[in-house]
Amino acid sequence: MTLLSEIKDSAIVENLKKRFLNDWIFTYIGPVLISVNPFKPMKYFTHKEIDLYQGAAQYENPPHVYALADTMYRNMTIDNENQCVIISGESGAGKTFVAKYIMSYLSQVSGGGQTAQQVKDVILQSNPLLEAFGNAKTVRNNNSSRFGKYVEILFDSGQPVGGKISNFLLEKSRVVTQNPNERGFHIFYQFCRGMPSEMREDFGLTDPDYFNYLNLHQCYEVDGTDDVADYAETITAMTTIGLIEEEQGNIVQIVAAILHLGNIIFTEEGNDKAIVENQEWLAFPAFLLQVEKAQLEKKLISRVMETRWGSKTERLDVTSNVQQAETTRDALAKGLYARLFDYLVKKTNEAMKMKTKSNGVLNLGILDIYGFEIFQKNGFEQFCINFVNEKLQQIFIELTLKAEQEEYVQEGIQWTPIEYFNNAIVCQLIEEKRPPGVMAVLDDVCSSQHGVNEGADTNLKSKLMENCRKNQHFQDNAQGFAIHHYAGVVSYNVEGFCERNKDVFNVDLIELMQSSRCLFIKNLFPDVVDRSSKKRPITAGAKIKSQANDLVKSLMLCTPHYIRCIKPNETKKPLDWEGVRVAHQVEYLGLKENIRVRRAGFAYRRPFEKFLHRYAILTKDTWNKWSGSPQNGVLHIMKSAKIRQDEFQMGQTKVFVKAPESLFLLEESREKQFDHFARIIQKAFQRYFNRQKFFREKEQAAEFSYKKKQRRAHSLNRNFFADYIGLEDKPSLKSLVGKREKVEFAQTVNRYDKKLKGIKTAKRDLILNGRGIFLVGRELEKKGPNKGQEVETVSRMIAFDQLSHVSLSTRQDDFVILHVVNSYDSVLQIPFKTEFISVLRRVVQNRVQRDVRVVFADRVEFTSDKSRIGSGKKRLIFFENGSSNQEQVSAPGLLKGELRVAVKDGLPNTSKPIQAVIRLRAQVRVAPKMGLQSLVTPPTGQQPTNPRRVTPSQQSQVIRDAPVVPPPSHPAPAFQPRFRPSVKLQSTERPTDLLAQLKRSQSSASQIKRQESSKPFPDQNMNYLQTPEGGQALRLRDSIKGQRPLPAGGRPKPKLKQINARPKVRALYEYKAQDVDEIDISIGEEFDLVEEDESGWWRGINNMGQEGFFPGTYVTRV
Ligand SMILES: Nc1ncnc2c1ncn2[C@@H]1O[C@H](COP(=O)(O)OP(=O)(O)OP(=O)(O)O)[C@@H](O)[C@H]1O
Ligand SMILES: [Mg+2]
Repeated sequence: MTLLSEIKDSAIVENLKKRFLNDWIFTYIGPVLISVNPFKPMKYFTHKEIDLYQGAAQYENPPHVYALADTMYRNMTIDNENQCVIISGESGAGKTFVAKYIMSYLSQVSGGGQTAQQVKDVILQSNPLLEAFGNAKTVRNNNSSRFGKYVEILFDSGQPVGGKISNFLLEKSRVVTQNPNERGFHIFYQFCRGMPSEMREDFGLTDPDYFNYLNLHQCYEVDGTDDVADYAETITAMTTIGLIEEEQGNIVQIVAAILHLGNIIFTEEGNDKAIVENQEWLAFPAFLLQVEKAQLEKKLISRVMETRWGSKTERLDVTSNVQQAETTRDALAKGLYARLFDYLVKKTNEAMKMKTKSNGVLNLGILDIYGFEIFQKNGFEQFCINFVNEKLQQIFIELTLKAEQEEYVQEGIQWTPIEYFNNAIVCQLIEEKRPPGVMAVLDDVCSSQHGVNEGADTNLKSKLMENCRKNQHFQDNAQGFAIHHYAGVVSYNVEGFCERNKDVFNVDLIELMQSSRCLFIKNLFPDVVDRSSKKRPITAGAKIKSQANDLVKSLMLCTPHYIRCIKPNETKKPLDWEGVRVAHQVEYLGLKENIRVRRAGFAYRRPFEKFLHRYAILTKDTWNKWSGSPQNGVLHIMKSAKIRQDEFQMGQTKVFVKAPESLFLLEESREKQFDHFARIIQKAFQRYFNRQKFFREKEQAAEFSYKKKQRRAHSLNRNFFADYIGLEDKPSLKSLVGKREKVEFAQTVNRYDKKLKGIKTAKRDLILNGRGIFLVGRELEKKGPNKGQEVETVSRMIAFDQLSHVSLSTRQDDFVILHVVNSYDSVLQIPFKTEFISVLRRVVQNRVQRDVRVVFADRVEFTSDKSRIGSGKKRLIFFENGSSNQEQVSAPGLLKGELRVAVKDGLPNTSKPIQAVIRLRAQVRVAPKMGLQSLVTPPTGQQPTNPRRVTPSQQSQVIRDAPVVPPPSHPAPAFQPRFRPSVKLQSTERPTDLLAQLKRSQSSASQIKRQESSKPFPDQNMNYLQTPEGGQALRLRDSIKGQRPLPAGGRPKPKLKQINARPKVRALYEYKAQDVDEIDISIGEEFDLVEEDESGWWRGINNMGQEGFFPGTYVTRV
């Protein structure tokens, strides 16, 4: 709503209305959430939304209470700060509903084991339990909270470990009386209706109309409430918080006793003396309370008075009149109920008490109180309820309007004050001691009454008039007085004010309850009775005042969040919009001023240290430690993130960020950094596991030739990459052998044929997949439109069941003879024969459940191809000692049918691969042995290091010359990096005093210009300000700016413009990746440089889009 073109109450109302009628109940004024009660279930509270809002920035999704809950939760875990949310609004505006959504969201997104689950269960179940005992139907709200509640959830490392509920002033007068069209607390109806009939009989419970405390206005039903179903829920909740069956029975016993007490009627027996009209009415409550019937009667109709005669004290039983007896009876009922309610809160707190002590516990508080209310007759309770609401409005004003503006002044930020109504004056009228406010006058009147209630209220009325009339927010009227609250004028009827304020639970009644044979009841009254004590008991007014002030104090210690609930109508119907009513709320909630301050002010402020802590990860100078002043750290981050100087201001202790977009940008960059580091960690693990896998493969491969065949020096520790042709980039070749088949092995090989006059070799692509072994050759098209062009054709396919066995020599040569059943055999020279055979054995085993027989011999008989001269005949190959590592092949003598292959001795046939020492990247790592130096002048017999990228021409070289990577065409650089960068990237240069300079720069626009056009801070070493990275941040910011989020919901996430601002480098030498986190670069290739590390291992993104390390000395800056 801060984006409204006109800031007028009517425009705000119109905006809310449009959204409401389109089923959007939430909107924001900056971080304040506005929620309009829809009076119908909305569809956006599912798991989908929970996923959507988890970890998302505020602007990414439509406004929602989940977004606010998520912000609280994340702020708490990231900033290590306690959080609280103040939910305010009038009765029926939807506070309790919203509070429950917050609890359920937190419960779903916070992890944890058994303890956390237990805490979550108790917190969630405390809602139906306390609502059953503390909520009731009023004319304003069918489920009105008649008590205030502050729920604190304690978290350790983001997991709930405990909780605490503080409750405020239960409207206990509702136990004995209600206004027309209202009910008592839900629990009475639930017990009367939902309880199994035998149990009901045991407790003498029956239909509500039987009980005087419930039948006053004959209101029993509530729209949308099912007392029977709710009864079951209450019992489940009791069980969850750990109330055993016996305790549950005791609770029913007390509730039933209260109802039966209400049925005791008194009559006058001459001389103004009250007697119980029918003795039978005493029996059942006495039985339920487990006290003597006579005692109960006595305490109801008389009270003990102590009189002093000198040093003597005399006790007298003074009889009561009917009205006094009724007051005593009701006091007993109300007192019992209030103590039972406190007991339930206590038990709930015990059930979620932290099991173990921990220092790192943080809390997240949710405040849901009874809303501001105006009834036809407003008594002492309404006065207290409205006072608490007044206090909450004050907190809101203090923190969002007043404090915010004062802070700007304090921090030296330029500011034009915005006017607003400060309700502090109303709070003073109620709670001030000097000059005495309403509560002080009330306490004074009560203390001077000395047990006599008659005339007290009238006395109060005149005393109030005397003391408060000067306050413009006070007004005298016929029944009492009126207060001009922030939310409207309320007329209070003084009748009963004094008695309710005194709130004394008569000592006689305490003694009566302490005489109960039921331990449970007795324990509710642990009071020490001291009749001679002169100490004045604390009054209800004083209690709520101190509770409210304590609450304010604890809220002030947390980072506050606000939800302002709005009630769209009094009909409780969906889509019913009463414009005038809403306009009133908008006005008194001060939404207009809220928007004004928001628009003129700064969206975000943070003490320097906290800002630095949160965004340190954005630059390597600040992560993980910044050695300069926190101010300079903040500036460095802002500069690196390319936040323009006019988008933020530095105060004395805090940084102020103007628009939320800048904050979103910082947040996104932060997430990206985390993501980046997470990937590095992931990669390190991946590499670790890959190595394990490669090693296992190598071991298995070595096993079949162990003690049977000599090994080539380079092949022993080579990793297996399977595809050495790059079939991914050759769809036509792949389609020849089966597109969907996984390529198990592919390499360019030599096919050998003995020809009439010597030997003939032909190049073939050997591809092994699940269907068989394919040999693909290239032939010239003889006719058709492609005549003369080379086309790939499958020259041979050997299905697995056709393969009889495989022959290998005992020497280090690459010859493999595939013997085929009823056909000729293929004599091939396969450079990676060990890998080929081991993969072949595995695939054949998987596909046709058969072992491939491998024969090792230096004299191998084979059948040659029938289509050639001398074909179909048995021929022989001999393997013998030669002078070179490369095979020398000869065919001595014509038609003799013999091939001779000579090769030098290789590694002994007992050689095994060695497992490399594996370390994670987090440590500085020495470049692998097959490192750069060896690439420049590769040893003979070295295999390709990134075989996937080997071209066929290179491949032929593999076969002929063994080394794969050609030496660079230029001389090798002198400096070769030896170490890889570690995760902790640190620079040695540090700025000194940036703050003073920024301040200077902010003081005049011309100076800003000058700074922008020339060197920003002339006297400093400014290297760290020239952030090589930061393009992404700039992009984000621009895109966010360009697509400023709409105020309405359903806004798409702004798309990020892909502007490449990274420096470019050109490769001077070819480099083949040696490891999974490196990239290939080829000579002349220009690509993005991401990071230059002093170790010499730089990070970049090559033209294939792969990101990884490469040697910095192999490139030059473009
Ligand atoms: N988000 C919502 N979705 C559907 N119905 C809602 C929602 N919020 C409130 N309601 C309806 O409005 C009723 C009143 O809401 P709620 O009890 O939360 O008001 P409240 O502000 O807590 O009032 P009080 O101050 O009297 O306790 C609920 O019982 C429910 O029927
Ligand atoms: Mg409520």
